Amino acid sequence: MNGNELCKEAVKAMENAYAPYSKFKVGAALLTKSGKVYTGCNIENASFSPTVCAERTAIFKAVSEGEREFEMLAVTSSPCGVCRQVLTEFCDDDFIILITNGDGYTKHTLGELLPHGFKL
Ligand code: THU
Repeated sequence: MNGNELCKEAVKAMENAYAPYSKFKVGAALLTKSGKVYTGCNIENASFSPTVCAERTAIFKAVSEGEREFEMLAVTSSPCGVCRQVLTEFCDDDFIILITNGDGYTKHTLGELLPHGFKL
């Protein structure tokens, strides 16, 4: 799976976003080193703070299925700081993050987006 294909999966995942409060739908697609794709969308809540971002939905789906090794993430928004920190738990600084608007993408590394992320 290449970058463009992963971005298409992220855009498709936006369809399931539950964003009645912000109206800002986000989709993400996470490629594992074994070649599987886990998608995610943002899921908002009337109480606001339980809202979860698309990236974390995808990461937690993957980790809960036993995945630990990740190749690349595509997302339709710039990842928030919390999601960058969650990625830091499982990925190295050279992990690739593609930010897409549905028409191409910009390519980043996790180390560039979150320098000095916290690790125990
Ligand atoms: N959101 C994401 O899903 N990912 C991000 O990295 C940025 C923010 C969502 C959370 C909320 O549902 C909406 O975008 C507006 O903040």
